[in-house]
Amino acid sequence: SGTRTVLGIESSCDETAAALVTDGRVILAQRIASQDEAHRPYGGVVPEIAARAHAERLTPLIEATLSDAGMTLADVDAIAATAGPGLIGGVMVGLVTAKALAMASEKPLIAINHLEGHALSPRLGDASLTFPYLLLLVSGGHCQLLLVEGVGAYRRLATTIDDALGEAFDKTAKLLGLGYPGGPAVERLAREGDARKVALPRPLVGSKEPHFSFAGLKSAVMRAKQAMAAGADYTDADIAASFQRAAIDCLADRTRGALLSAGPVTALVVAGGVAANEAIRTALEALAAAHGLPFVAPPLRLCTDNAAMIAWAGVERLGQSDPLDTPARPRWPL
Ligand code: KG4
Ligand code: ZN
Repeated sequence: SGTRTVLGIESSCDETAAALVTDGRVILAQRIASQDEAHRPYGGVVPEIAARAHAERLTPLIEATLSDAGMTLADVDAIAATAGPGLIGGVMVGLVTAKALAMASEKPLIAINHLEGHALSPRLGDASLTFPYLLLLVSGGHCQLLLVEGVGAYRRLATTIDDALGEAFDKTAKLLGLGYPGGPAVERLAREGDARKVALPRPLVGSKEPHFSFAGLKSAVMRAKQAMAAGADYTDADIAASFQRAAIDCLADRTRGALLSAGPVTALVVAGGVAANEAIRTALEALAAAHGLPFVAPPLRLCTDNAAMIAWAGVERLGQSDPLDTPARPRWPL
């Protein structure tokens, strides 16, 4: 059989996205409409605003994506959409649109777990990445270490017991007046600061249990900001740099533990929005090298939410199809 193509749809948070990806790992077209502007005044994603924006934008976005590739629905082999986890209004918009397109075109519907999209995304760009690999999944909603043994075969080795790391980046950004979304802004400011200036905790580092915790770090950042206002001798940039360094120490320590306990793996892989962070990538690359492992990270535009990773997960699942009454799931552990 020739090249097969999957249409992917993503709408679980604040990006409305569509993409066409082939089983030859080619992204034929992809479009992302960000809602950052709409949510910025509120300092975070407002679910009702997100759902309305997805509903208004998704259909024209899909039409434009098909037109970019010079294709119609008739040329597509399957339609893959995020069915959860995420903000339920947005997920429903994407999933119901995918169902309508699948019904009209008589193509299979493939319901994708958003986390699986992130977990398999490194294989879109890297054909040599084989199972099993150790995945650090770090996003706005999740912080997990997963042993990826195959498509649909994920063993969760660790998760956060409180906040996700992206959340901690976003709250730090808000505290430092950097606006939303915060991760990239904190990273930029951290480059100008001294990571040794502000003493911050490294929650759970050295502990025997495998999990993550960032709530204590977040509160310590808040206290540091208050101390600065009261005259402590450091800057916002020093706080950003010290926060990022503490976060990296936590990630590296927990990931090192997972590498030691996971059994043989082919690579250390990082994915999710926070994986766009250059300093985090550098630290993980060094950790992988110390364990004699290749380090794989998707290109930046495939780290934050996008539809190419959903289409790719659909490619990985080609041959299967989900019923048209598949529910949207706000919570859906891998
Ligand atoms: O994967 P993603 O786009 O959405 C979720 O599924 O959560 O991740 C978004 C998160 C946000 O918290 C954002 O601040 C963070 O990823 N992020 C970063 C960077 N770029 C995005 N965090 C740290 N450094 C970055 N460069
Ligand atoms: Zn995501």
